[in-house]
Amino acid sequence: MDKLVIVGGKALEGETRISGAKNATLPILAACLLAEGPSLVRNVPHLHDVTTSIELLSGMGVRVTLADGMGLEVDAGAVDNVHAPYDLVKTMRASILVLGPLVARFGRADVSLPGGCAIGSRPVNLHIDGLAAMGADIRVENGYIRASAGRLKGARIVLETVTVTGTENLMMAATLAEGTTVIENAAREPEVVDLACFLNRMGARVQGAGTDTLVIEGVKRLHGTEYEVMPDRIETGTYLIAGAITGGLITLKNIRQGTLDAVLAKLQEAGAQIRCADNMITLDMRGRRPRAVDVRTAPYPAFPTDMQAQFMALNAIAEGTATMVETVFENRYMHVQEMERMGADIRVQGNVAVVHGVERLTGAPVMATDLRASAGLVLGALVAEGETEVDRIYHIDRGYECIEEKLGQLGACIRRIPQ
Ligand code: EPZ
Repeated sequence: MDKLVIVGGKALEGETRISGAKNATLPILAACLLAEGPSLVRNVPHLHDVTTSIELLSGMGVRVTLADGMGLEVDAGAVDNVHAPYDLVKTMRASILVLGPLVARFGRADVSLPGGCAIGSRPVNLHIDGLAAMGADIRVENGYIRASAGRLKGARIVLETVTVTGTENLMMAATLAEGTTVIENAAREPEVVDLACFLNRMGARVQGAGTDTLVIEGVKRLHGTEYEVMPDRIETGTYLIAGAITGGLITLKNIRQGTLDAVLAKLQEAGAQIRCADNMITLDMRGRRPRAVDVRTAPYPAFPTDMQAQFMALNAIAEGTATMVETVFENRYMHVQEMERMGADIRVQGNVAVVHGVERLTGAPVMATDLRASAGLVLGALVAEGETEVDRIYHIDRGYECIEEKLGQLGACIRRIPQ
């Protein structure tokens, strides 16, 4: 397993480019199953999760070919099986996103249950119940979700919990259902909006994306299209914190304004100066130690759970004490013990973490446990005195394209040790 070795203490300066959003790419690639012809998806990030998606779709008979401009041509015209095997699904929970498209277009699906993961039990009951409400005969046996349906029927679905991939799965299924589907308490994440835009470009009729009520009028068939995936707002937030935690001056290019306002507000509260212009954002924290800032995660547009670990690293060296509350997942503090190995002073009680800012962190060998936790550890390492070794960075490679190159562009002292 590769490691990252980081020597901290340098203020980052410079600019780098933000890649396409992982959490928009994954549902959009799954949505290609709905069309009878090829789609060209651009600005696809080169990530392990994307490679896994390509493997999953190819196994179903989807033809996936590399195109220019970080593009993928995805042609589901000759799909010959509806099986999503456990050995792939267990490595990437988002594989569940093929369920809705398979049932909607082929009337059948045989998708492994994703199982739990480090940050929580992460059930998929709302995906299953929603498809059942649309007329699918769906049951779980031997660790697989087995579904069959004639043409799905439009339904009114009220989601008891805001679920991003649940909203996406049911929205995709509804595009080919007979009649109209209303999804209430829908997720409002920008990635849901990006998927809805892609679906409408394919000929779907989705309204209300970005609000908590989606109205989808089913159509008979969808066609291929061309689309550019939105920039990754979590990658953007992660690099902004890299600039803030090291007291630097950084500029990020190819960002999407208006998708990360809750995080920008908290960074400004911590003392960062932020300027946005078109598709660029600049953060200036030169000569300043961050102030501690309270954070409570919640579904969009509130502060994203996917930025909690990264902001905890900032609070770990801030002036003052911050209270952080994780309301989305039940076990998303795996990074705390590792940060404590670097000298952080954090007390966790249930879903509340109290972070007492310390003057400095010190480099130490630490272990990544999940994607965003590992990003938080890298951020801590950038400001820690001395050398930090981050182990098990396959977690990072799932969600951050060329992380050592991009941080290197910003002046970080970082190298990958292939194991
Ligand atoms: C998506 O996961 C993201 N993944 C996650 O990003 C992100 O953390 C999460 O949304 C929340 O924003 C992708 O988009 C591929 P949820 P998802 O369903 O959809 C409960 C990352 O780091 N729930 O919104 O799986 C669930 O237990 C990843 O990029 C049910 O109870 O998350 C959780 O408490 C990590 N039943 C809450 O909803 C269900 O059927 C939110 O989960 C589904 C979800």
